[in-house]
Amino acid sequence: MRMGKLSDAIERRQQETTVKTESLIRGRGNTATRENNQIFLAGKSSVGGAYSQKLVALTAPNSIDAENFKILKTRILFPKDRQKPKTILVTSALPEEGKTFVAANLGVSIALGVKEYVLLVDCDFRHPSLHNMLGYSNKQGLHEYLTGKVALPDVIIRTRVDKLSLLTAGSLPDNPPELLSSTLMEALLKQVKGRDENRFIIFDAPPSQLTAEAHVLANHVDGIIFVVRATKSPREAIRKSIQTLGEEKILGVVFNGYSERSKSYGKYYKKYYRE
Ligand SMILES: Nc1ncnc2c1ncn2[C@@H]1O[C@H](COP(=O)(O)OP(=O)(O)OP(=O)(O)O)[C@@H](O)[C@H]1O
Ligand SMILES: [Mg+2]
Repeated sequence: MRMGKLSDAIERRQQETTVKTESLIRGRGNTATRENNQIFLAGKSSVGGAYSQKLVALTAPNSIDAENFKILKTRILFPKDRQKPKTILVTSALPEEGKTFVAANLGVSIALGVKEYVLLVDCDFRHPSLHNMLGYSNKQGLHEYLTGKVALPDVIIRTRVDKLSLLTAGSLPDNPPELLSSTLMEALLKQVKGRDENRFIIFDAPPSQLTAEAHVLANHVDGIIFVVRATKSPREAIRKSIQTLGEEKILGVVFNGYSERSKSYGKYYKKYYRE
């Protein structure tokens, strides 16, 4: 196990054509061409509020944080020693370590690419918050889809970022782990398997040391991004989590060095197990 070279990723990223952020924010009522695709363009264009300032990939595209998300994205889009992961789980050992922050910004960063479509799915029924990051409400979502109450296209929101869709968590179920391993969940995952290689699903999961959900999802996804809150995440909890999630599935560890005290976006580092 060794650290990846960030310089490689930066070089690759520079070779990649990235469409400017402003031109990709879709106006309301935009009628994007529908493709033969169940989830990436099938959702509704819902009227949302303002997205959070913490969505740095959009609000501060030239910041170090946004830059780092581009590097993380490049590592995912151009893996050196594995197939491109199309279903990605974002988790961490404990609460408040930056999972939602990472999932949302990574999703935006990937969708801002030329060809890539992203569906962000909030699997944290106990503390759903992806919808807040993107400026939407959470009335119905994954729970209602998984219990057969609604069809997928009826709960997927086409966000104002072109090629970025959102499936909010919905209401709190009694049995989150069971729901996440249901056949309807498999159907959702199948939407990207063997299809166009530019379609991604990113799952925002609850903490792996406190709930079973991250472990259930880990079995179904292609890869995991593990978030570590610098100076806060206990070493033993990190070790246990990575071991039980399956080290071979970890695409990278994000070291989130956000400092509450300074209220700045802080330093934000990524190091990788794999090159
Ligand atoms: N790098 C960062 N820069 C700025 N704010 C951050 C950063 N990382 C996390 N935060 C903020 O810290 C708080 C906790 O982050 P977040 O909600 O992403 O954590 P989480 O791991 O998803 O928490 P939970 O386990 O409760 O779902 C949020 O207000 C988030 O916006
Ligand atoms: Mg969260």
